[in-house]
Amino acid sequence: MMKKRKVWKLPKGQTPTAFDLKIMALEDAGHQVPPRRLILNEEQIAGVRRSAVVNTGILDMLEEKIREGMTTEEIDKLVYDYTIAHGAIPAPLHYEGFPKSCCTSINEVVCHGIPNDCEELLEGDIINVDVSTILDGYYSDASRMFVIGRTSPAKAKLVKVAKECLDIGAAAAKPWGHVGDIGKAIERHAHKNGFSVVRDLCGHGVGLKFHDDPDVDHYDTGEDGMLLVPGMMFTIEPMINMGTWEVFIDEADDWTVVTEDELPSAQWEHTFLMTENGLEAISW
Ligand code: MF3
Ligand code: CO
Repeated sequence: MMKKRKVWKLPKGQTPTAFDLKIMALEDAGHQVPPRRLILNEEQIAGVRRSAVVNTGILDMLEEKIREGMTTEEIDKLVYDYTIAHGAIPAPLHYEGFPKSCCTSINEVVCHGIPNDCEELLEGDIINVDVSTILDGYYSDASRMFVIGRTSPAKAKLVKVAKECLDIGAAAAKPWGHVGDIGKAIERHAHKNGFSVVRDLCGHGVGLKFHDDPDVDHYDTGEDGMLLVPGMMFTIEPMINMGTWEVFIDEADDWTVVTEDELPSAQWEHTFLMTENGLEAISW
């Protein structure tokens, strides 16, 4: 019989604080606790907050500028120019070979759409613009939906319910609760409205890296998942589909994620900090 290796480690020669003792007791009781690197200190949190000011600023700027007839390439240029003008770097650019500064995902595109100059925004389109920023090495990540002109009642409802799913998921995340609480709440609300939840992509730890643990699933996996400890930072970014939850990756670019039935999808994303009082939105 092998003794299970503990995830929560004390720095050499350090006596455990009350915080350490609390986490160690929870680990002994069988909870999946985060490794120490996922608990950000005050300096790190301040760094991510500064990155997030730029990131949220990009989305506010787009809110003003996005319009019918604009190409997704033009959106990308707005994102790139704003980011650079604020001394930051667009995190998607060259990330694992991604060629642009943001993701633009229209209608049946779920996420990771690549901006290009052949794609024009048309009346009735719903588009997700996903922006992520690196400032002084700190990462922030958020996305919003934009409705171009007037859209159908069904698409408008999808956009609204997807935002409610993010808010309800965030409200379900409690300090010393579990990451699994988030997906359970989101799935319940999506299904109540006749929509489905994408399973193949999840939220993620963020801050010191673009993507870190934990995986934040937006559906009920049937498991508790990782303990949510104050000082953790992560995204919640539910992708809500009008039809089936199933998706495929477009082989033409190996990035663009599309709904299997080509019905519309909507997504909103915030970066959150877990505090002793619940989640605080850091970028939105
Ligand atoms: N911003 C996306 C997320 O929420 C990541 C996109 S990776 C990219 O995780 F390379 F496609 F930009
Ligand atoms: Co993200």
